Amino acid sequence: METEGRTFHVTIVTLFEGFFEDPLATSLLGKAVEQGTVRVEMLNPRGFTSDVHRTVDDTPYGGGPGMVLKPEPMVAAIERARQGNPGSPVILLTPQGQTLDARMVSELAQGNGLILVCGRYEGFDERIRAYVDRQISIGDYVLSGGEPAALVIIDAVARLLAGVLGNRESTSQESFSQGMLEYPQYTRPVEFRGERVPEILLSGDHGRVESWRRAQALERTRRQRPALFAELELTEFDRRSLQEFPAGLDVMENDRGRETDHTEN
Ligand code: 6GU
Repeated sequence: METEGRTFHVTIVTLFEGFFEDPLATSLLGKAVEQGTVRVEMLNPRGFTSDVHRTVDDTPYGGGPGMVLKPEPMVAAIERARQGNPGSPVILLTPQGQTLDARMVSELAQGNGLILVCGRYEGFDERIRAYVDRQISIGDYVLSGGEPAALVIIDAVARLLAGVLGNRESTSQESFSQGMLEYPQYTRPVEFRGERVPEILLSGDHGRVESWRRAQALERTRRQRPALFAELELTEFDRRSLQEFPAGLDVMENDRGRETDHTEN
């Protein structure tokens, strides 16, 4: 089923195509692929070797532990990827890259596609870097390979593409695109193990609900992400919302634990 005109073309250069199978067939990404909003193609550097053993790595010059990805198959795969996906930036996934954020995701989503090059655990030959356009990291920790990072980028980009979000109003309303965290959400039941849904959400007063949500989002951001909060320029509506709903009310008690709090669904 193809509904929208545009197709975002992703080429993944990876030794482990299998890694992407289920994620690309599941949930929002699965839908994006099915409806043709995103097209994903894999290129395996092993297919660009010329020796009988199809060797993609070798021991490091100068000694040391581990194996290093050889430049010839990687660069041959990158060059093929460029031919098949012209105009898309070639991105090397590496902890040494620029750290991904919402602004970068939105910039990447504005193009027609991406070529994502996955490095591997122990490392790759330094000369490969000259054949990519940019290098991206997803945070200050080390993954065993670029594959999870490639998947993070594809997921974050896909949900910004027209047609993927279904009937959601707009991604411009959500956290991080506005430089702040999301307001808290609730669904049935109205009481769960003694905890009630904030009464205001049951009131039917859409104006007050909107103010309350804004105040909650701002207050959360102030408490949990002070550096983000410092960058915000509060509007008149923000100030009025914070006055109407002063800090520390209601669900703020639930805001311990950052890990679980960045979700948007
Ligand atoms: Cl893009 N690759 C690897 N191997 N580790 C990472 C990363 C990328 N981003 C954060 N850690």
